[in-house]
This record gives sequence, structure tokens and C-alpha cells, in this order.
Amino acid sequence: MDKHPTRIGVLTGGGDCPGLNAVIRAVVKDATYHDIDVLGIEDGFLGLIEDRVKPLDKNDVSNILTYGGTILGSSNKANPQKYPVGTLPDGKPNFKDLTDVCMTHIEIHGIQALVVIGGDGTMSAAKPFTERGINCIGVPKTIDNDLWGSDITFGFATAVSIATEALDRVHTTAASHHRVMVVEVMGRNAGWIALHAGVASGSDIILLPEIEFDLDKVVRVCEQRSQHGKRFTIICCSEGARPKGGKQHIERVDPTSPDPIRFGGIGKWVADTIEDMTGIESRYVVLGHVQRGGTPVAADRVLATQFGHHAMQLLRNGAKNRLVVMQEGKLTDVEITSAADKQRLVPPDHAMIAAARAVYTSFGD
Ligand code: F6P
Repeated sequence: MDKHPTRIGVLTGGGDCPGLNAVIRAVVKDATYHDIDVLGIEDGFLGLIEDRVKPLDKNDVSNILTYGGTILGSSNKANPQKYPVGTLPDGKPNFKDLTDVCMTHIEIHGIQALVVIGGDGTMSAAKPFTERGINCIGVPKTIDNDLWGSDITFGFATAVSIATEALDRVHTTAASHHRVMVVEVMGRNAGWIALHAGVASGSDIILLPEIEFDLDKVVRVCEQRSQHGKRFTIICCSEGARPKGGKQHIERVDPTSPDPIRFGGIGKWVADTIEDMTGIESRYVVLGHVQRGGTPVAADRVLATQFGHHAMQLLRNGAKNRLVVMQEGKLTDVEITSAADKQRLVPPDHAMIAAARAVYTSFGD
């Protein structure tokens, strides 16, 4: 087995997520204990392109466990292999491969291995470095909880808790004003946040990307509730939900991002259409990035600390190019790019959907 590295880099790529700092803290403290130097790379792979790195020791990560975001900064556009440098005459981004530039900076700083904390875009961006002999250990993050190969990712519990609190708050005002309230939550193509927050808040209707909804059925639920004296309805709507035969609502497309589609607008569409069809006053709230910000809940701090520690154990034990995951309650690891281009979606026969249906929650199907 190879000798473990004595100088490593750590970076956070992709969208931020509560718990990133807890991973950085675990990595740096473990490294310091084992006499491994750590360089913090700023703004994900952008810091490697622009040579922005700084030494981190245990004092730099003291007191960051409870902070949201990432002390290193992040970028969801900086894939060195496909980095946008200006625009082409047709207005499209001009992508260049800057892997060599990054390799020069890696060599100048004597970085022998990288801990890359990010989503599947970040893991794919790490691939050219693994091919050039830089050992990369991946730590997955996403509030969406859609990482293939891991039962859970840190950040998810915090997002669910924020969405649940929002739904609880909307509940009392909806009841007072006899309204339909639609709360649009994040998650991209995965409905995990909507499902968990919807069940936790006792939402009357949950709309998921994985189950196309029939608007007539959604309307019928709202009307039946009114007829039975419940003059309000709470709808927890995933940003990626779509009506039968309809399309997902795309709010913007960012061609420079590895994941260019940004969803948004389905909550407004559902609320407006229900109001038009029923005459019941309907409003919507888009939670957006509120779900990603602020203090991580305890479960995410614990999970992130475990992920960071496992990443360091892998590095110290000479493992190469692995991704930390949680499977059946156990920390383990898989090949770093094995989760790329795959998503862990909510199976329509998931036990939590059955439980929700049993308490009269509708999925609009
Ligand atoms: O993947 C995390 C996530 O927050 C999604 O739930 C959401 O669709 C997307 O990122 C938003 O991306 P951005 O921060 O680039 O707007």
C-alpha cells in the first residue's frame, strides 16, 4: 500500500449546502493530527485555475461547525476541463480545457492529493486529475439527497427542516384566510425534500417530479376539503413537479454551468390555475435558497463530520479515487465517478408515499 500524502488540497464545488464547513473542519483537524499539511482551495476548481490557495490549520477551522455555506467559497461553473473563456461569435460560451493550468498550480504547491467536496459535477471535474495521478477523494453534498449510491447526504436534513417550518407557518395563515397555499421547494428532479417536508408538515397535497399530477384531481381535493369544512389547503410542491402531459417549469438556463437548468415557477402556476378553476383564493411561496442557507441541523453536522473523517481515513490508508457514501446506515465508499450522470429519485412505491396516502395526503394522481 502507498505511503499516505503529506500535503493535500481541499475544495468545495457546486452549490453550497449546510454541513460543508463541518466536513472541512473534520478534514483539517484529522490532517493536522496526522501531520498532513492542508491547503484550502478557494471557490472550488476556480481556485486551482486562478491559483488561489491558502494553508489551513486547526485554528482556521475552529468554530465553523455551526456555520452554513463554506469558508472556502464555491463555484458551480468552474469545470477546468470545460471552462468558459469569453463567448464565440454565435454568442455561445467558448469553452477551454484548463487542466494543465491547474496541474501547474498543483505542482507548484506540492499538492499530492485532493479532497473534493461537491456534487456529481464536481466529481466529474475531478476525473482529469485522477488520470494525471492526483488522488482525489470525493465527499458528496447536496440538499436534494439525490446522490446515486448514498442513502443520505448532508444538507438534506437542514433543507427539510427549513421547508417544514415554512409549511407549518403557512398553515396557520392559510387556515385564517381560507386560502389554498402552495409552497414550492427545491430538489431539482428529485422529490425527496417535498416528500419529507410534506409528510412532516401534514401537507394536504404533495406534488413530486416522480409522480405526474392531474390538476383536476388537485382541484377536487381542494373543493372536497372546503365541502367538509376545511376551508384551506396546503400544497407542498417540488420545483421539478409537472402536470400530466405538461412540462417542467424552467426558470433559467445557464449554459456555463455543468447542470444548466434551473427550475422555478410551478408553484405560481399551480396556485393561479387552482384559483381560476375554483374561485378559492390561492397564493404561493417559493422558498428558494432559504433552504440552503444558515446553520446545519445536528444530524447534518454529525453526518458531515463522519464523511470528512472517512475521507481522511481513505487518504491515510492509501485508497485511490473513492467517493464517501452512506449505505444501509454504514459509511463506505465507491469509485469517485460512479455516481456521475445518475440520480437517486423517489420510487413511486416508496414506503413514505404509502404512509402519506394512508393519512389522506394526495399526490394529485
Ligand atoms: O442542487 C441544489 C439546488 O439547490 C437545487 O435544489 C436547485 O434546483 C438548484 O441547486 C439551484 O441552483 P442555483 O443555486 O444555481 O440557483
